[in-house]
Amino acid sequence: MQPLSGFRDFLPASCAERNYIFAKWREVAGRYGFVEFDGPVLEELDLYKKKSGDEIVRQLYEFVDKGERAVALRPEMTPTLARIVAAEHRQFRKPLKWFAIPQVFRYERPQRGRLREHFQLNCDIIGEESPEADAELIALVIDVVRAFGFTSKDFVVRISDREFWMELLKLEKVPSNRWEEMLQTIDKSEREPREKTQERLGKLAKPVFEIFEKGGESAKLTNIIENLRLRGLADFAKVDVRIVRGLAYYTGIVFEVFDRAGKFRAIAGGGRYDQLVAQLSDNAVSMPALGFAIGDVVLGEMIRGHAAARAQMEKTIGAERAVEIYVVIAKEEQRGNAVAMMQQLRDCGYRVDYSLAAAKVARQFRLAEQSRARFAVVFGDEWPQVGVKDLETGQQVLVAHDDVLRHVAEAPSRA
Ligand code: HAM
Repeated sequence: MQPLSGFRDFLPASCAERNYIFAKWREVAGRYGFVEFDGPVLEELDLYKKKSGDEIVRQLYEFVDKGERAVALRPEMTPTLARIVAAEHRQFRKPLKWFAIPQVFRYERPQRGRLREHFQLNCDIIGEESPEADAELIALVIDVVRAFGFTSKDFVVRISDREFWMELLKLEKVPSNRWEEMLQTIDKSEREPREKTQERLGKLAKPVFEIFEKGGESAKLTNIIENLRLRGLADFAKVDVRIVRGLAYYTGIVFEVFDRAGKFRAIAGGGRYDQLVAQLSDNAVSMPALGFAIGDVVLGEMIRGHAAARAQMEKTIGAERAVEIYVVIAKEEQRGNAVAMMQQLRDCGYRVDYSLAAAKVARQFRLAEQSRARFAVVFGDEWPQVGVKDLETGQQVLVAHDDVLRHVAEAPSRA
């Protein structure tokens, strides 16, 4: 049996890649002073019906549970975060700077870069109006992608302002119940034939296409680019009003991250959602908020397709997975002494492995090499001395068994 379409098994090699990605995400979020939180995988269906917008609602994994409650697997983290903040914010000094690494579920058509489950790093700032927060968040997403070995030649953050489009909708007197539909059409226009966009936009098509051609500007956008320039990150970003974002709750600055070659779907996306906390608390709590999410699927494909990023990942994973000491039991009578020594070595923090069943010495050495161990410690006729072989240099010495720890600790570290 295979996993369901759009779902993944994580065999050890891909699990190691996933852990590598998560470790970098945590490291960079920590550098920016973000702290980790989590929430439930399953939420009330209404949380998304009200807040995420039509596109995500169509993709929900929803069902009625045994208590007759309508529930859904989380398709994103932002509604959960807004729900938690609306209820718990009094406990915390503002602004909150929180991150999470949820697995999320969307019933999409599986294709390159899009599956039915994925992991996302979400970073959100809650309770801060200042535009500095928008710049800080965009700097963070840039640094998250840079951490994997990518440069400004590899990716770009396209930054826009939803207010810009909302003003146009007001100016053109589009009724507010059609705004979401119009914004989604503008958002999708890059992936759709021009005629289809034109048909959907109707009389709005002309001004929208004019803006696409001319580009757009606002003082807010110019300030963000200037702030990124001060950080030396301006090469990673550009103003691009075609970015609107598909989710319904965004209210201001929005952005998406793309590979420069245009091979992949968006790597990350986010923006301001200043009304969501208020909406979830029936206006009891009002709090400005902004955030982004970066997924593991496109990022993983980009890493595997980029020589330097891939080499960096393989080096890190290789070093983490390698066993340090392989214990070779040359005489089965020595198994008891070997096990006792292994316990000591492991208590000291060494990664130690050995053959669980009796095996020929040559085979045990082969296994030692395959596990990329630095040392083989050989238990045989020489007891109470044991052989310590440096598998890099091939040198073997006999040492008293209670001297093995010191010998291993004093060995010069691996290049
Ligand atoms: P989103 O743009 O829907 O935003 O998703 C963020 C990222 O998740 C995408 O750029 C992409 O890398 C990844 N992603 C989305 N759908 C899939 C899929 N089907 N398969 C693989 N990867 C996928 C949000 O989710 C917002 N809640 C982000 C946010 C946080 N806004 C404010 N705070």
